[in-house]
Amino acid sequence: MNEYDANPAPELDNLILIIKSFLEHIEYTLGKDKYTATRYDAFNALAYAVRDKLVERWLDTQQAYYNSDNKRVYYISMEFLIGRSLINSLINLDILEDFREAITSLGYDFEEIFDEEQEAGLGNGGLGRLAACFLDSMATMSIPAYGYGIRYEYGIFRQKIVDGAQMELPDNWLRYRNPWELDRQEHLHPVKFYGRVLTTTNKFGKTVSEWVDTEDVMAMAYDTPIPGYKNNSVNTMRLWSAKSSRDFDLKFFNEGNYIRAVEKKMQTETISKVLYPADNVIEGKELRFKQEYFLASATIHDVLYRFKKKHTDLRLLPDKVAIQLNDTHPALAIPELMRVLLDLENVDWDDAWQITRKTFAYTNHTILPEALEQWPVWFFEQILPRHLQIIFDINKYFLEEVAKQFPGDNARLARMSIVEEHWERKIRMAHLAIVGSHSVNGVAALHSEILKHQLFRDFYEMYPERFNNKTNGITQRRWLKMSNPSLSELIGEYIGDGWVTDLYELEKLRAVATEPEFAARWQAVKKLNKEKLAAYILKHNCIQVNVDSIFDCQVKRIHEYKRQLLNVLHVITMYNRIKENPAGDFVPRTFIFSGKAAPAYVTAKLIIRLINAVATIVNNDPEVGDRMKVVFLANYSVSLAEHIFPAADLSEQISTAGTEASGTGNMKFALNGSLTIGTLDGANIEIMEEVGRENIFIFGLTTDEVNNTRNKGYNPRDYYSKLPALRRVLDQIAGGFFSPGAPDLFRPIVDLLLNQGDYYMLLADYTSYIACQDEVSKLYRDQNEWTRRAILNTAGMGKFSSDRTIAEYARDIWGISPVCVKGAESRQHGDSSAHGSF
Ligand code: IMP
Repeated sequence: MNEYDANPAPELDNLILIIKSFLEHIEYTLGKDKYTATRYDAFNALAYAVRDKLVERWLDTQQAYYNSDNKRVYYISMEFLIGRSLINSLINLDILEDFREAITSLGYDFEEIFDEEQEAGLGNGGLGRLAACFLDSMATMSIPAYGYGIRYEYGIFRQKIVDGAQMELPDNWLRYRNPWELDRQEHLHPVKFYGRVLTTTNKFGKTVSEWVDTEDVMAMAYDTPIPGYKNNSVNTMRLWSAKSSRDFDLKFFNEGNYIRAVEKKMQTETISKVLYPADNVIEGKELRFKQEYFLASATIHDVLYRFKKKHTDLRLLPDKVAIQLNDTHPALAIPELMRVLLDLENVDWDDAWQITRKTFAYTNHTILPEALEQWPVWFFEQILPRHLQIIFDINKYFLEEVAKQFPGDNARLARMSIVEEHWERKIRMAHLAIVGSHSVNGVAALHSEILKHQLFRDFYEMYPERFNNKTNGITQRRWLKMSNPSLSELIGEYIGDGWVTDLYELEKLRAVATEPEFAARWQAVKKLNKEKLAAYILKHNCIQVNVDSIFDCQVKRIHEYKRQLLNVLHVITMYNRIKENPAGDFVPRTFIFSGKAAPAYVTAKLIIRLINAVATIVNNDPEVGDRMKVVFLANYSVSLAEHIFPAADLSEQISTAGTEASGTGNMKFALNGSLTIGTLDGANIEIMEEVGRENIFIFGLTTDEVNNTRNKGYNPRDYYSKLPALRRVLDQIAGGFFSPGAPDLFRPIVDLLLNQGDYYMLLADYTSYIACQDEVSKLYRDQNEWTRRAILNTAGMGKFSSDRTIAEYARDIWGISPVCVKGAESRQHGDSSAHGSF
C-alpha cells in the first residue's frame, strides 16, 4: 500500500487529523517524502505529532500555574534517567490507540517505530530513575513542579561485552535530533567561574562583595514536556546546556589567536558534555565540580526570574518556592542563593539565611562513605571564591550555635563542621546541605533511622525536627501499564483501572488470588512475558533458555555492596550439586544478570567477567542441559529493564543489610508479580511488611547483626574452613576453574573475601542464602502456591507508587497543593483551579 495515499472514511475525523499531522511533519519538519522517509523519520514525525499535543497542554498548564500563583517545587538533580518517551506520552495523553490505528493504516508497524527511539539515559541508576518517576507523579498529581538538570550530550555509556568483559562506548544520544525538546534561546543565564572577590564599603557603611574578573559560561535552557496521566497537566523538565559567552569569545579573539580562541570556546562548552558514569561513588574531578555549580547557578537564576514575575519581596520566596536537592550534587545552590541575595539583591545576612533555609530541602541517598561528597577547599578558592567566603561564614555562625547548645564539646564541633580540617581541607557537602535546609530525608524507613542514629547523629541531636523519611516509589504508569500491557489488561478486567492513579486499588487482587481462572491467566501472562524475554536472550546472547525454569534476576548497577558475587556463589553451588548428582531432580533456573560497572571500578568489572566466565562453563556443559543457564544481558537501561521486570519470577535484592538506602528495582519486580529473595535492607523491609512475611524470602544478617559482627571481629576464614561447599566454590574461582586460560584471573576476588576482610560479609550470609534459595526452588514446584504468592506481592504494592511518595513530600516538606488544568475547551481563558491538599 502506498502509505501517503491513505484515504480514510470521513467519519474518522480524529484519525484523519493524526495522519495529517504525521504527514505534515514528514514533509515540512523533516523535509522528506515517500521516496526518502526512513523508519527513523516516521518515528520523528510521530514524536512531533505527539509533541504538538503536549505543547498545547503545556502552555495551558504553565499559564494555570501563573494565574493561580501557587507555590512551585523545583526538583534539582544531576540525573534524570527518563528512558524512552513516545509510548509513555501516548498513554498519559490517552491517545495510544488512536495513534496506533492511524499509523498502522499508513502501513507502518507501530512497534517497529517505537523501537527507533533513542533512550534518554541521563543518569546512572536509582537516583536518576527516581527523579524521572517523580516527574511523572508530580505531573499526574497536578503539582506545579519543574525538574532541573543538565543536558548531557553523552549520557550513560553503552555497555558492550567483549570476551566476557565490559567495554564502554559513548552514548551519543543527541546525534540524530531529540524531537521532545524545545530549545529556549531566550533563556540564557551567565554562570561565573574563577575571578576574585572585591570587598568595599558602600555609601551606607555596609561591606559589599563583588565577584569580578570571572570567566562566564552561558547556560541555555532546553525544555522537555512531562505529561501527567489523563489530566491535561504538562510539566517542564528544563535541562541546561553550556554555551560559550560572546564576551568570552571576544577576549580571546581580540588577542589575535583565532585557533586558541576557538579551543577556549570549545573548552567552556565541555561542561555539559558528559555524565559522570559513577554510581554511589564520587569522582572528585574539577569538571564535575563545575557541572554541579553550573546546574545550581543557572537554576537559581531561573527560579528567581520566575518568582520576580509576580513578586518583589524576596522574603516571600519560601512561600512560593520549594527546592528539593536530589542528594548533595546540587547543594551549591545553597551558597549560590545566599550570594545572589547578599551581593545582588542587597538582602542582609539574617534575612538571606532565613529565606535560604526555608526554601531548601535535602534528600540523602546513600550512607556509603565513598559516595559522600567533599570538595577540596582549593577548588573553591580558585573556581568559586565568593562561595567559599559564604560557606565559611555559614560555618562560623553554625558552629557558634553548636557551641551554645553543647558547651565545651570540641570534638562535636570538629565532627559537625562543614569544613573537614584533616589532611587536605575539604567542604563536606552533606553538612552544608543539612545546615542550609529545613528538611533532611532518607529514602526508606531503615535508611532514615540510620541517618538519625548513625551517619548524622550529631545533627539529629541538634535539629530533630528537620529529619524525616520519604520511602521511595516508582510510577505504575511506566512500570506496569506501559511495560507489561498483558498483565495490566488482565488486572483491569478483574478490578478495573483505578490502580493507574491509585495503586492501593491493587489490594482488590487479594480477593481473586486463588480464583483458578484468574491464577491460570496470570500464569499464562507470565509465560508469555518469559517467552518474549527468552527470544531477546536468544537474539542477543545466542542462548536458548528454558521458559519453564525460574527466571532468577539480578539487574542493577554492579557494586560490591549489592553482592552480585553472592549470587554467583549460589550459581556455582547449584552447578556443583548438579555435577555431583547428574541424575538429581533439580528445579531448573535461568540466572539473569544485567548492569553496568563504573568504568574505573576494577572489582566490579572483574565481577562481570566472572559472571560471564561462569556462564561459559555452565551453559556449555551437556550434563547440565537446560536445567541451568547463566545469562548476562549487556547494556542495562530503562528500555531493557522494561523487558526484564515483566518476565521475572525471582527478584534478587541481596545487599548487605544497612547498605542499600532504598532500592526501587525491588518494587518494580514485585509490582510485576515476582517473588523477592532479599536481606532486611532498604525498602525490602517495607515490602515485607506490605506483602506479608510469608510471601517473601528473607535471609541473612540484620543491620544490627552486621554491626555487631564487625565490632566483635569478623573472620571470613572461619566460614571457609567450616563449610565444604563454600570452600569448593572459592577454590574453583581462585584456582582458575572458570578461567582455564588465565588461572589467576579471578584470584583477587577470592582475596577480597578471604584475605581482605570480606567487608560486605558474603561468607557470613552464604549459608542462609543457599538455604533460602532451596526454599525458593521447593516452592516453585508448587505452581499454584507460587502464583498465589506472586499475586499477593502485586496486590501489596500500593505503598510503593511514587504518587504516594510525592504526596508525602508535597504535604510534609513542600507545603504545596495541586493546580488542576481544565481541558481544551477552556484554552485561551487561562482557566485553572487551585484546590485540595494532600
Ligand atoms: P516560564 O515560566 O517563563 O518558563 O514560562 C513558561 C510558560 O508560562 C510561558 O510559555 C507561558 O505560557 C506561561 N507564562 C509565562 N508568564 C506568564 C504570566 O505572566 N501569566 C500567565 N502565563 C505565563
